[in-house]
Amino acid sequence: MQHHEENAKKIFQKSYDLYQQVVDAGLMGHQDFLPMVQQWVKSLAPAGSLLELGCGDAQMMAKTLSDGCSSHLIGHYIGVDASGYALDVARTRFKQQNVSFIESDLLQFLRRYNKGFADGILASYVIHHFDYSKKLEFFKLAFEALGNGGELAIIDLTLRPGESTESFKNRITNEVLYQWPANISDGLPDLVRHMQDYDIPEDLATWDKLAQSAGFMPVKIFGQAWQGDQAAMMVWKKI
Ligand SMILES: C[S@@+](CC[C@H](N)C(=O)[O-])C[C@H]1O[C@@H](n2cnc3c(N)ncnc32)[C@H](O)[C@@H]1O
Repeated sequence: MQHHEENAKKIFQKSYDLYQQVVDAGLMGHQDFLPMVQQWVKSLAPAGSLLELGCGDAQMMAKTLSDGCSSHLIGHYIGVDASGYALDVARTRFKQQNVSFIESDLLQFLRRYNKGFADGILASYVIHHFDYSKKLEFFKLAFEALGNGGELAIIDLTLRPGESTESFKNRITNEVLYQWPANISDGLPDLVRHMQDYDIPEDLATWDKLAQSAGFMPVKIFGQAWQGDQAAMMVWKKI
């Protein structure tokens, strides 16, 4: 595993509490994405297998599957994350028997996963850590893991059309340092450094190009959020 990715994981562990405050305060659009995720889960094959990669503490799926309408829709939910610390929190959020968690690098997990077995794969705010070739590998492995008719949903950072990564990062840096609430500002310079060093966002067209090169149908945009358009929920079907 690359030094770059190992560092990214260590920094996330250290910043877990800060990230939770950011998520709870709705600063990265999770509250807007939650109803989209719920709608998507309800549209998946009944009693199917759902994988969540880079699930962290699995807050969105816990809220989705604790809704009585949704819990019976999933046959099995597997949350995968490289952080054992985040998974320990995730385990406390679920009472269902048909839920399990695996501590693993998500690419290594996908390489070992049964081909054609998953009905849905969700990856929220994690694939932007990969460079272009790793992103492509991820899309290919996700395509192989899904059965026909299965869907991949990604929530992740999106550049505006024609925008450079540098200009995106400058925009987010200004927002985080000068617009986010002062009461969570203690660790924010670290968060900004992490973003400057490790995040590799793509524009919507590039995310879709990566997915279609792996064999997926064209993207369906479920919605955009976080200051309107800094992140999107994108869904691709395997036919
Ligand atoms: C920014 S958090 C996102 C958490 C959650 N999915 C969300 O939407 O809020 C990124 C998560 O991905 C995990 N992660 C980062 N790189 C990973 C990798 N290569 N394999 C598995 N998990 C990874 C981190 O441990 C962390 O829990």
